[in-house]
Parts: sequence; structure tokens; C-alpha cells
Amino acid sequence: MPKILVTGGAGYIGSHTVHQLRAQDFEVIVADDLSNGHAASVPSEILHVCSLFDRAQLTSLMQTEQVDAVIHFAAFIAVGESTREPEKYFHNNTAGSISLFAAMADAGVNKLVFSSTAAVYGNPTEIPIPETAAINAVNPYGESKVMVEKVLDWLDATRGLRAIRLRYFNACGANNAAGLGERHDPETHLIPLILRAVRTGKPVTLFGDDYPTPDGTCVRDYVHVDDLASAHIAAVNHLLNGGASNVFNAGTGQGFSVKEVVTAVEKITGQSVPYIMGPRRDGDPAQLVADSSKLRQTLGWQPKFDTLESIIESAWVFEKQNLT
Ligand code: UFG
Repeated sequence: MPKILVTGGAGYIGSHTVHQLRAQDFEVIVADDLSNGHAASVPSEILHVCSLFDRAQLTSLMQTEQVDAVIHFAAFIAVGESTREPEKYFHNNTAGSISLFAAMADAGVNKLVFSSTAAVYGNPTEIPIPETAAINAVNPYGESKVMVEKVLDWLDATRGLRAIRLRYFNACGANNAAGLGERHDPETHLIPLILRAVRTGKPVTLFGDDYPTPDGTCVRDYVHVDDLASAHIAAVNHLLNGGASNVFNAGTGQGFSVKEVVTAVEKITGQSVPYIMGPRRDGDPAQLVADSSKLRQTLGWQPKFDTLESIIESAWVFEKQNLT
């Protein structure tokens, strides 16, 4: 079976993807600096604690292990923090990725799946958003990913690095059978914060109800982390089968407002959500919903979690089992 190097494999989406790759008999090694990842989320025998900036270690790892392709998750992801510390994001996410790509060149590895984001679109002018929409990041996090996407175009043109860029929408949910779920510190994402409010009784603040949406709260495309993982497997198989570089939105195509998420959580937990309606959070677009038809048609991707309730249910089980 092909051998895959997964950077950031101890993180949230990375660990779910590692689990699915191994279940499908891929050989997997993980490079993670554990700055945000959890060592316990991956088998210790495949974990290499390594920085993206250690080009020599990455090169030697890929050569020794005879890696066929790389799935690159390792990145900082907090939009708010990126506006306060932009250098941290351009350094880690952009320069760190370039260091990895240089190591791939040294080791002769020319297949890559890259974690991009819906944040590359900024405030989109059309919903659902196709991949051809204008690229117009409105925060350093999104721009750090736009820059990598541009670097990848050049590396394809100049030395044949074939890359699939997956622009994720809102990753959520858990794989409870594998003991994996969302454990960010600090947590900034809506679904775990709402579930935590239910569990602790401490209210969550909802950021604004004066958006131009049906109920005034922001609309997002919530996609289960295991469905994102399966998109990576489809992408890596495409590359291993000789497929060309491409870019795909990874979302369900369905949008839900913040208030609809609250209602769905109340239905799943049987409890009311304590919340405070606060002002808007800087930089939040009113709506982000994927047109994911290209991913479905080109790579045959089909999300298994097709209701918001089923996604929240998996996150609620994880919250109760792991975070009390
Ligand atoms: N929200 C609240 N209260 C909270 C947290 C979030 O009301 O305490 C709202 C946000 O304002 C937003 C929605 O819930 O309207 C979802 O917010 P998240 O922080 O869960 O997710 P984002 O849509 O901001 O961010 C996600 C990814 C980012 C990515 C972005 C755009 O986490 O990495 O989508 O693609 F950049």
C-alpha cells in the first residue's frame, strides 16, 4: 500500500484522516510538533515530533520511509488570533508550508493534499460559493492560505508538484468509535461551545443577530470531520492514480444559521441552550455555503453525515465522554 506522510496528524481533522487512512490499509506516518495536536490522538509508533521548519528532518523522514504522498494539515487556525498576531500566521502557515515543500523536493515526493479554507473567499458575492469565486481573504489566516495556494500553482508549473487543495467549510463532529473529536484550546468554534454551555450551564455568547440572513444570525456550512477525512482519501487516491492538480470546496452545500444550530442542539440534548446575544465578531461573513458539486463529480465524494442533527449528535457524545 502507498505510504502517506500526514503533517498535523495529531490535530483535529488530521487525526480523523489518519484513522481513516489506516482503516483503509494505507501506511501512515505523522509529523506533528504537538504545539496544538494531541499525542494520544495517533498511535505512538507512527508519530514523529517534528517542526515544519526542520527541512532536513522532514527530508530524511520522507526518504527513509519512502513516502509516496503528503497530506499537509499542520497550521494555526484561529481567525481572531491571526488579526492580532499576523506574523505568527504568515510564518507558520505560509513559510512553514514552503519549508515542507522544499523538503518534498529534496526527497523527490511530488504529490500533496493541502488544507485550504473557505476563508480564502472573504465576503463572498455569490451563495453557494463555487471554486471560481473571487479570492479575497479578509484576515491574515485566510491570506496565509491564499499565499500557499499561489505557491502551489508555481511549484506545479516549475517542477511538477501535483497538489489537491481542499477548501474546508466548517469542520465539526467526532468519531467516537475511534475516541477522536474536537479539542481545541482555547475552543473558539460554535458547536463545541454551545454543547459546553448546555453541559456547564454557563451561557455562550452568540455573535450578532443583525446580519442580512433570514433570522439575522450568520449562516455556515457544517461538514462532519469524517466526511472531510474521506475527501482527503479521495484526493490522495486521485494523485496516486496520476491525477492532476485541482482545487475543491469541501462542504455539504447546506447552510444553517447560528440560531438553527442552537435549535438543533436543543433537540439532540433535550436541554435548552443558555445563551447571550452579543455584538458581531469582527471579520465574520454573513454567509458561507459551499458549492461542492465539483468535489462530488470529480472525486466521487459523498458526505455520509447529511443532517445537522447527526453531526451534533456525534459531537455531543464526544463532549459528554471526553470533556467533563
Ligand atoms: N459564533 C458565535 N459564538 C461563538 C463562536 C462562534 O456566535 O462563541 C458564530 C460565529 O460568529 C459564526 C459561527 O458561529 O457566525 C461559526 O463560527 P466558528 O468560529 O465556529 O467558525 P467560523 O465560521 O468563524 O470559522 C470556520 C473555521 C475557520 C475558517 C472559517 C472560514 O473555523 O478556520 O470557518 O472558512 F477560516
